[in-house]
Amino acid sequence: MRTDLFDDALPAALHGSGLTLLRGFALPLERALLEDLERVTRAAPFRHMMTPGGQRMSVAMTNCGEAGWVTDRCGYRYAALDPESAHPWPKMPDSFAELGRMAATRAGFDAFKPDVGLINCYVPAARMSLHQDRDERDFDAPIVSVSLGLPATFLWGGLKRSDRPRRLPLSHGDVVVWGGPARLVFHGVAPLADGYHETLGRRRINLTLRRAL
Ligand code: SIN
Ligand code: FE2
Repeated sequence: MRTDLFDDALPAALHGSGLTLLRGFALPLERALLEDLERVTRAAPFRHMMTPGGQRMSVAMTNCGEAGWVTDRCGYRYAALDPESAHPWPKMPDSFAELGRMAATRAGFDAFKPDVGLINCYVPAARMSLHQDRDERDFDAPIVSVSLGLPATFLWGGLKRSDRPRRLPLSHGDVVVWGGPARLVFHGVAPLADGYHETLGRRRINLTLRRAL
């Protein structure tokens, strides 16, 4: 059963769009998440990947879990090894998997077990253009997206690239979940405004927990 406990937080224009917004949902786990993030990024540092078209992404990325999302001149895919180190990606920390499971449950998706955590690092002006998350093997599982650090404007479009996106401000600790009929909605992030966050500095970290394999 879906719970609408948190729907008050969602702007009216986004009601019924398939997006669940859980304001501050990650805050009780903040310490563990940041420590685990530090451990993961020490083993697999952030890097700027290349799009298949040859553009350097403004967002720096890394991964944890059984595979990692990568892009290069050959395309987008999940890869079992970190191409920078040729080692497996760091294990998914329990804090990430547990947060993913709890947020998915709250949004009405039971028994979510993420196998990949894609970690995005935005500095001021970094952005992510509208895209669908469609490199996962099946689309039954939701996407759980955790925002940490500087606030950002999340863009939530429709099932067609040309659908005009709504703008949703996200801040430290917020979690959004989408799945079911909304699983392939186009989404992105507007250019990050400059600022300073007390724990993460001039950065926004986004963690997306996925069932990819
Ligand atoms: C993504 O779509 O992978 C990133 C979303 C975000 O940074 O909020
Ligand atoms: Fe995405």
